[in-house]
Amino acid sequence: MANKNIRTLSSRKGLNDNLFENIAKLSNEAATEQDFHQLSQKFMIDDSVVFGTSTFYDFLKPENRDKKIHVCNGTACMVANTQKELSINISNHFQANEIGHAACVGHCHTNSAFMYNENTYSAKTNEELKNIFTSNNKKQGNKYAIGSNTTPILTSKIDNLNDFYALAEEFSNKPEQVIEELKISNLRGRGGAGFPFWFKLDAVSMEDYAQKYIVCNADEGDPGAYSDMYLMEHQPHKVLFGMYTAGKCVGADTGVLYIRGEYPDSIRIVNQAIEELQDKNLIQNFKFKIIRGQGSYVCGEETALLNSIEGLRPEVRVRPPYPAQYGLYGKPTVLSNVETFANIHWILNNGGKSYAELGTKQSTGTKLVSLDSFFNTPGMYEIEMGTPIQTVFDDFGKGFKSEIKALQIGGPLGGIVPLHKIKDLTLDFESLNNHGFLLGHASFVSIPTDFPMIKFIEHLMKFTADESCGKCYPCRIGAHRGFEMLQKAQNEDYKIDRQLFDDLMETLEIGSLCALGGGVPLPIKNALQYFDKELKRYFA
Ligand SMILES: Cc1cc2nc3c(=O)[nH]c(=O)nc-3n(C[C@H](O)[C@H](O)[C@H](O)COP(=O)(O)O)c2cc1C
Ligand code: SF4
Repeated sequence: MANKNIRTLSSRKGLNDNLFENIAKLSNEAATEQDFHQLSQKFMIDDSVVFGTSTFYDFLKPENRDKKIHVCNGTACMVANTQKELSINISNHFQANEIGHAACVGHCHTNSAFMYNENTYSAKTNEELKNIFTSNNKKQGNKYAIGSNTTPILTSKIDNLNDFYALAEEFSNKPEQVIEELKISNLRGRGGAGFPFWFKLDAVSMEDYAQKYIVCNADEGDPGAYSDMYLMEHQPHKVLFGMYTAGKCVGADTGVLYIRGEYPDSIRIVNQAIEELQDKNLIQNFKFKIIRGQGSYVCGEETALLNSIEGLRPEVRVRPPYPAQYGLYGKPTVLSNVETFANIHWILNNGGKSYAELGTKQSTGTKLVSLDSFFNTPGMYEIEMGTPIQTVFDDFGKGFKSEIKALQIGGPLGGIVPLHKIKDLTLDFESLNNHGFLLGHASFVSIPTDFPMIKFIEHLMKFTADESCGKCYPCRIGAHRGFEMLQKAQNEDYKIDRQLFDDLMETLEIGSLCALGGGVPLPIKNALQYFDKELKRYFA
């Protein structure tokens, strides 16, 4: 109820004078208590609301306001073991209180990654680092291999922007046809859950509201994933077209892109693409708005993301109601992932049937796959669903630079797949599910043979504990307890009670409100199953 009231008050100024952006601005400027108080008064909300929001996010917390440089502490950089040396090199240039952290800045293909002065970089040596600091903030660029093993849908070039957007006009008064083509295509959400996209459009189009929204989830929080970053930086118009067409279909006049703050280039490039659309008059009666994330993994969860845009503390909402009925500012909202939206142009241009002919029956089309730096050719590959994963490794990754024992596929909540199981898997939702893993957002993070598995699962538990929104206690408390046990077993004369640990995993799995607490037991159980020999000495 309290949240509903705050939402109503925040919605009065809405996206134009957005509460979350106001809070972020004041935090970044290290404003005084009085400034924050004035903001609360302007929105007629209690000081505690503004305080609750500003202290939630990594980049806004009072203790992080002096940070000038953010060293990546994401999973891919951790297993590559590059960050210790990088931090030492950075400490030659910055005071300890000026050095912060960011959980993945999308350089998983090179590592040694950090964010500085609104840019992201990789620097393997002190020399490279010095060049960055002395080159007057010259951009380094974020280069990686790009390829496809099928009809390129997401990685193809747009030849002519006018022609590209002309398709939107063709479908502008045919919402039923748009929904029908998407239904035939069987396009499923690419953010992880694989929910049929057409169903969201259908549900929102049936809602009788004057105000509806399209929200693009560009928070890409999974360390190891950079496919949404690729789309925003190389194919922004595919994403914008998808949002615009979805808006026309359901009767929404506003599209919001929630882009993570760790991707400053994506924010710049999408912004330029929006300006280009406006300058060329390619869209009618539709406006875009970019909201910049402020360093929080849980904001990728759809309802936390909506609360975040509204300036509330980004706690996960209880569902139902779903965003399609009660979304942004309580209005019907189509909320989907960047890659999901990016497929729409090809589907409408070529027909849902052609799309459904690619991939498998249940997992149609293609999927972008992010390969990390352990592959000989790391990069971004558009792979037809149903392709053997071994083929992706051989034909695109070209094998590994050094020995690895497992891969985590699909982010921190995705499965830990031992290398010998890869040959049994194809790249689609069903194959990974049936073998006890997850496709998720299809990021591949390699775990080297000499990287202790106990350290890997400890990292996952710590990540969950750090990123928990705190709404439900199995995750809020359970993730900390799990982390403590794993840490203590390595540092003290202590063995983990296996029954207690299994009970904790079960509590997290069935008692958590969302898939952060509910999902982390999956990789941990995979590790316990496949790396029992290595892990058993830590358990009683
Ligand atoms: C903890 C957590 C983090 C998530 N992070 C993301 C994210 O970064 N990007 C994303 O698209 N979906 C993320 N999701 C999934 C979203 O909640 C939602 O299912 C998705 O955005 C819907 O879009 P889709 O149907 O196109 O996949 C996350 C879910 C959870 C539980
Ligand atoms: S599982 Fe964790 S992140 Fe999800 S609602 Fe509960 S406390 Fe929040």
